[in-house]
Amino acid sequence: MMSRQKVLILDFGGQYNQLIARRVRECNVYCEVKPYDMALEAIKEYNPIGIIFTGGPGSVYKPDSPHCDKGVFSLGIPILGICYGCQLLASELGGEVTEAQDDSAREYGKTVTYFDTSCTLFKGIPPESITWMSHGDYMARVPDGFSLVAHSDACPNVGICDEGRKFYGVQFHPEVNHTEYGKDMLRAFLYDVCGATGDWTMADYKVTAIKNIREKVGDGKILLALSGGVDSSVAAALMAEAVGSQLTCVFVDHGLMRKDEGDEVEAAFKKWDINFIRVNAEEHFLSALAGVTEPERKRKIIGAEFINVFEAEAKKIGSVDYLGQGTIYPDVIESGKGDAAVIKSHHNVGGLPDHVDFKEIIEPLRMLFKDEVRQLGRELGLPEYLVMRQPFPGPGLGIRVIGELTKEKLDLLREADYIFRDEIAKAHLEDTMSQYFAALTNMRSVGVMGDGRTYDYAIALRSVSTSDFMTADWVRIPYDVLDKISVRIVNEVAGVNRVLYDITSKPPATIEFE
Ligand code: XMP
Repeated sequence: MMSRQKVLILDFGGQYNQLIARRVRECNVYCEVKPYDMALEAIKEYNPIGIIFTGGPGSVYKPDSPHCDKGVFSLGIPILGICYGCQLLASELGGEVTEAQDDSAREYGKTVTYFDTSCTLFKGIPPESITWMSHGDYMARVPDGFSLVAHSDACPNVGICDEGRKFYGVQFHPEVNHTEYGKDMLRAFLYDVCGATGDWTMADYKVTAIKNIREKVGDGKILLALSGGVDSSVAAALMAEAVGSQLTCVFVDHGLMRKDEGDEVEAAFKKWDINFIRVNAEEHFLSALAGVTEPERKRKIIGAEFINVFEAEAKKIGSVDYLGQGTIYPDVIESGKGDAAVIKSHHNVGGLPDHVDFKEIIEPLRMLFKDEVRQLGRELGLPEYLVMRQPFPGPGLGIRVIGELTKEKLDLLREADYIFRDEIAKAHLEDTMSQYFAALTNMRSVGVMGDGRTYDYAIALRSVSTSDFMTADWVRIPYDVLDKISVRIVNEVAGVNRVLYDITSKPPATIEFE
């Protein structure tokens, strides 16, 4: 097989850098995000068909601003500079960048932009459309050899190009959806400038990844902790397809999963001849959590017990060659940004490597974005309910029952949550929400059913839409759908007499209740 074409994205610290990479991959072109100071030799060795400079918060004329090795301009490789990247391109090649004055070209938000459609980047798009701007600096002088190919009412220098050297720069962000023809521009850069052939598809990737795993693992053994989430499931399926019975999946059922989830996960892996171990540890977890009400303590106990249970299983298997993990690309991109404050300690299976006897970690999804992981899962024949599964916290329903956990409360929540999901599916609203679930509040209140007084629990429903889970808005679920859900929950779930809908965004609330 011919080696795959690659695009290199040099990261200057902008907030949309991963989005650029996702857009490029959506065009069926493989790309990777690397720090802006990547060594020239490494760039040459990487051998990209094109390079994209991202935006960033710096100002190119300031001494401490990020600059890449100037040698990239002599490699004969096409370059697209976006925002800061465009200014860098201009200033390094002899132009001039200054701070925009109030009356000139400081622009933010949706901006009407005019294009010279004879430029390869803009061929075939209308001469006027909306772009998304976010810049305080401005190219006062364009370098020799460059033409001006886009402008706005406030700024004469919105797009520049030197078609001879295949250098292009835009002040706006083609990767964000607000830029009407942004995807066409990226596609034009990839296909018409860099000569991309579109050789990045999940069907191809599957074949290559399986071959690579077989070569690497030989007749060795792999051990993987399967959580039932999308990433670990797809990683498991890929390795199952590659090495079959050399793979052992340990699925710790902590009893904090949603209704039927444990059985669904088990069923999805039936078709492979692997060593599948389901550990039914519900009682173990519930007794470790008995009487505990504080959210962080619950998280810590669940995380620690998960490791204990897994370790006990791993000991039975003995030493393995590889520990498989479902790490994905957004987890490994070096962002160079400082750590945000810890609001909640997110426990997954993070601590496993210290507790298992293995030689090497194997992470076959390390270079994939979430959408690609889902697509790969489909290629591998995993059912849609696993592939499209919404994010589910490692501690599961343990942090959706507020306060102390008991089996009764968990069962009650499972039923209510199932009804919520069922009605959302029936109303075809899944695609309008990023995450939705029921939580059992610790509140009981008075109600009336038939002729009798009740004193039962309140269920809270939560549904949010978000692109990054850092901020989120609550979803405006139609009243009639909410009504159906509420009626069904109080009628079908004994012990619940009230249903509340959470109308808080994040911030100030978080997505989960604990
Ligand atoms: P919050 O509640 O912090 O949630 O707004 C943001 C996202 O993270 C998920 N979440 C967790 N995931 N372990 C996880 O693996 C955890 O302890 C945990 N707590 C929250 C939450 O479901 C949402 O998608």
